[in-house]
Amino acid sequence: MPDIVISNEGPVRKIRMNRPEKKNALTLAMYETMAAAIEDAGTQPSVRCLLLAGAPDVFCAGNDLNDFVAMARSGALGASIVRFLHVLARCEKPLVAAVSGAAVGIGTTMLLHCDQVIASDNAVLLTPFVSLGLLPEAGSSLIAPRLLGHARAFSLLVMGKPLSATDARAAGIVNAVVPAAELDAQSLATARDIAALPPESVATARRLMRGSVEEVAARIDEEVEAFRIRLASPEAKAALAAFLNRKR
Ligand code: COA
Repeated sequence: MPDIVISNEGPVRKIRMNRPEKKNALTLAMYETMAAAIEDAGTQPSVRCLLLAGAPDVFCAGNDLNDFVAMARSGALGASIVRFLHVLARCEKPLVAAVSGAAVGIGTTMLLHCDQVIASDNAVLLTPFVSLGLLPEAGSSLIAPRLLGHARAFSLLVMGKPLSATDARAAGIVNAVVPAAELDAQSLATARDIAALPPESVATARRLMRGSVEEVAARIDEEVEAFRIRLASPEAKAALAAFLNRKR
């Protein structure tokens, strides 16, 4: 099975992260495949909604930390990551996410771009950017305070405090919390509901509600530049080495 599994279920394009042995940590190739699937969906009138999903025990463990170590050495953030972030922010089709288990780093910040997030009762959202010596990305430094308010966004993005599925629903970034066994069916039903609406009307309403894409894109670039500098910092190098060399 490939690390990213793409399937069209009627008008819904499902993009499932599938690297369970590494908890769906995202490699550059996975970013590239997801970006291509999202971009392609924009050109296909038959695709009316996108559904992002992971595995039952983990949605996504964030960026592959080995790749971060390599990027710290090279001094450049992977082009595939930057491409994915821009494609996600510029996506014009509605986005639904089905979250089960841990959603770490980009696993959480990609949810801030989604229009509906369905979480199973075992879901946990967590962004340990700062404890890794890094910074919030994917436009989250702009979007999260807008959605959550500054104080809650600070707890999540800077203090790295986890949000349970119910906390995330209370905070307004998860729509529904469902038993794990019902996640696939409920998230697909949500995506199909959206797909059944008049697509041009959905697209226009969505565009108006989301505000300036250019502002988000500019923030992504600003974050990328700051992230690149942080990756090469002694703080980040020490934190990444500690995770990768931990004894279990
Ligand atoms: N990058 C690279 N490898 C990762 C990874 C990541 N982000 N997350 C998990 N893995 C790997 C582990 O190294 C381990 O590999 P191994 O079996 O070859 O040793 C494997 O995935 C299983 O991970 P493990 O930590 O044993 O699973 P767990 O169920 O105990 O914990 C997580 C799951 C997601 C909570 C934990 O793996 C974790 O905290 N990962 C790092 C998350 C992170 O900091 N991401 C970056 C955010 S910016």
